[in-house]
Amino acid sequence: MPPVLRATGLTKVFGARGEEALRLAGEGVARDEILRRTGSTLAVHDVGFSVERGELFVVMGLSGSGKSTLVRLLNRLIEPSAGTVEVDGQDLRALGDADLRTLRNDKVSMVFQHFALLPHRTVRENAAYALKIRGVPAAEQRERADWALRTVGLLDRADARPDQLSGGMQQRVGLARALAADSDVLLMDEPFSALDPLIRRDMQDLLVQLQTELHKTIVFITHDLNEAMRLGDRILMLKDGRTVQLGTGPEIISAPANAYVADFTSDVDRTRVLTAGDLLREPRMTARLGQSTGEVLRALGAAEANGVYVLDADRRIAGVARDDLLARARQEGRTAVGPRELVADYATTAPDRPLVEFVHLVGRHPVPLGVVDDDGRLLGVVPRAAVLDALAAVPARQEG
Ligand SMILES: Nc1ncnc2c1ncn2[C@@H]1O[C@H](COP(=O)(O)OP(=O)(O)OP(=O)(O)O)[C@@H](O)[C@H]1O
Ligand SMILES: [Mg+2]
Repeated sequence: MPPVLRATGLTKVFGARGEEALRLAGEGVARDEILRRTGSTLAVHDVGFSVERGELFVVMGLSGSGKSTLVRLLNRLIEPSAGTVEVDGQDLRALGDADLRTLRNDKVSMVFQHFALLPHRTVRENAAYALKIRGVPAAEQRERADWALRTVGLLDRADARPDQLSGGMQQRVGLARALAADSDVLLMDEPFSALDPLIRRDMQDLLVQLQTELHKTIVFITHDLNEAMRLGDRILMLKDGRTVQLGTGPEIISAPANAYVADFTSDVDRTRVLTAGDLLREPRMTARLGQSTGEVLRALGAAEANGVYVLDADRRIAGVARDDLLARARQEGRTAVGPRELVADYATTAPDRPLVEFVHLVGRHPVPLGVVDDDGRLLGVVPRAAVLDALAAVPARQEG
């Protein structure tokens, strides 16, 4: 299956001397210099990425970095100067105006920063707008609009006018409109940037929840790195119209592509971005139930450790074998590790938990924090040194 959305070599030049600007861009000349020499603005240059179904893909960059231009190229609201966009494997260059309108209404809908609500229509009519354009029967329009309004928690305001609602509520109407349209892909251009921090936080939570429940594919634009880190499965960082890095939040903060990204990400709260799964590693050693007590004791000595996870046949944690209990077992003639050698002196976490929620568990037991799956199987461990290492901001990756 092709990705839902694929951009290849996407480039946009605004201004008259486009050909010359493109040539200079191809030579790697910076945007400022291109503007000075041609009077044209290189808004986006050679950007490529694929978005998988159900992914929340964030495009992040400072003001003027080309985010809005890029997102408008994705549904051909803006014609590219070069490059292609494919939706479900279909090249948008092949579509005529009518097909493009259908695409924008049915498949790839846009949620804007300033809501773009119709002021003289009710909240319900606004939510149903895309369906009305599509010619969906009135009863079905109402049903879908009400479902969408219920989903965003606004059904009780369905008969209000937009100007009777707060900014956060208006933004939820915008979201409801996109949900009611039931398009596969939502393009969201800084939808929350006009909102107060607390309401913004609520909207972010709502979006994550909808994403989990409805499996929409979302391209989300923001200039706020913390928002990007909170929301994005992957993040495309733009600077002056060009890609500086594409990766998951943890990848970007632990291996910034250059000094710009390193500087940009140095303020991010790592404890909320990095999860146990990002930090886990293979345990230095583990033992099995039934293994020889002498053997385990010798292995502990070699590893200079005081305890070790003992796993059952399914890799579930049976407990921790401690050196002193193993020594006593040997004295008392027990040759195989069994329940009497085990203590519950360990802590575990799920892989998706952020560091902020488990940091207090690290380094308090004779074995490192265990990372376990839903069935209690040991996936790996998080040693204290890994946490300390991750918390230190990392300088830019060395080139070459
Ligand atoms: N229609 C246009 N004509 C000429 N230049 C444009 C046009 N649209 C955008 N630009 C220029 O292209 C560059 C990228 O603009 P764009 O709006 O894509 O940035 P942005 O990242 O969305 O910024 P913001 O965060 O401020 O919304 C800017 O230099 C802008 O001035
Ligand atoms: Mg913009």
